[in-house]
Amino acid sequence: MEQYIISGGKPLIGEVEIGGAKNAALAIIAAAVMTDEEMLLENLPDVKDVNLLLQAIQDTGIKVERIDRHTVKINASTIHSYRVDYEYIKKMRASYYLLGAFLGKAGKAEVALPGGCDIGSRPIDQHIKGFRALGADVEISNGMVYTYADHLYGQHIYMDVVSVGASINVMMAAVLADGYTIIENAAKEPHVVDVANMLNRMGANIRGAGTDVIRIRGVEKLHGCEYSIIPDQIEAGTFMFAAAATRGNVLVRNVIPKHLEAITSKLREMGSTVMEYDDAVHVIASDVIKSTHVKTLPYPGFPTDMQPQIGVTLGLSSGTSIVIESIFETRFKYLDELARMGADVKVEGNLAIITGVPEYKGAEVSAPDLRAGAALVIAGLAAKGYTIVDGIKYILRGYERFDEKLRALGANIAVVTNEREIIEFKYKVV
Ligand code: EPZ
Repeated sequence: MEQYIISGGKPLIGEVEIGGAKNAALAIIAAAVMTDEEMLLENLPDVKDVNLLLQAIQDTGIKVERIDRHTVKINASTIHSYRVDYEYIKKMRASYYLLGAFLGKAGKAEVALPGGCDIGSRPIDQHIKGFRALGADVEISNGMVYTYADHLYGQHIYMDVVSVGASINVMMAAVLADGYTIIENAAKEPHVVDVANMLNRMGANIRGAGTDVIRIRGVEKLHGCEYSIIPDQIEAGTFMFAAAATRGNVLVRNVIPKHLEAITSKLREMGSTVMEYDDAVHVIASDVIKSTHVKTLPYPGFPTDMQPQIGVTLGLSSGTSIVIESIFETRFKYLDELARMGADVKVEGNLAIITGVPEYKGAEVSAPDLRAGAALVIAGLAAKGYTIVDGIKYILRGYERFDEKLRALGANIAVVTNEREIIEFKYKVV
């Protein structure tokens, strides 16, 4: 089993280049299959979730040609099946974007129903509500979602919860529907806007993405285009907090600073200096990390995908902080692991009380999910001594060359698979 070993206590210093946004890429790959013409997608992150979705679409007969590590050509004219089995969904929930994409394209889709996951129960009732409103029949049986429509018709749809996935899925289904669709209470995340921008480039007529009302006028046909995916806001935020927690100084390049405003403002409250440039942010940490309170919210609020990273950083602050997780109910599992490194934490329902300690002490910890795993790596980088992080398969779902990028910033981190490699690492870093 692969693990990260980290010898902590060194500030991260230098520059890091951020890749394409994983969560935008997943929806964009699904949207790309809605035309039979060739699509060229650039700035795709080379991470497990993205590669799994590319494999899932290939299994339906769609041609996927990798041009280089971050560029693929997709041609869906050869599609012969509109089915995605549980094998994919259980590894990567976002395969459910193929429901909206296939339904919009062909009026049919059969996709396994995603279950709960490591961060909480994750229903898809709002996706289904949207498809039904557009005139599709949706049935759930034997763990599959079956959806069919002879014809989709534009509708006025009100989302009961703000959902990134449902907003994107229903938007995809509506672009080729007859007439006018309005999605109210839509998610405003940058990746919702990115998918809308690409669909518009393909000939769709979507207005208002990035606000809570998305308006879609159905068109007859979509065509091929070239599209470059936006930078990953969460990867960037992870490096920004890693800089703060290790008292480092890091220039985070290839970002859209506007997408990072909630993260930047919390870091400033915690004492870091953050300078914003056109496509970079520079984080200079302060020696003393100040405590603060934070509540996760849909964009432009503080992202739930950054909650573990701010949590581990607040654990090293000079006071007591309250963190409220309002999106996913079981996203505090990493705090039990952090307590094993000496953190002073108390969890009550969706609220965590984190009292800063002067330092963490290295320990063997397990990544409970993707972002929590990245956060435990940050804790290890800041900690005194050696930390081993298990479960790096989660981290690799969403971070490309994570250890390599950290090493370039001066971190002592390596991937090890056995005791001998752990001993060798310790011998080398002494
Ligand atoms: C996306 O998940 C991201 N995943 C998640 O990132 C992210 O944490 C989440 O948005 C919130 O920002 C992808 O983009 C692939 P939601 P998604 O639908 O779309 C409830 C990561 O680490 N809800 O916005 O599945 C839901 O339970 C991942 O990269 C319903 O009740 O999230 C949650 O409480 C993890 N019914 C809230 O809405 C529905 O039909 C927001 O979920 C849909 C959602």
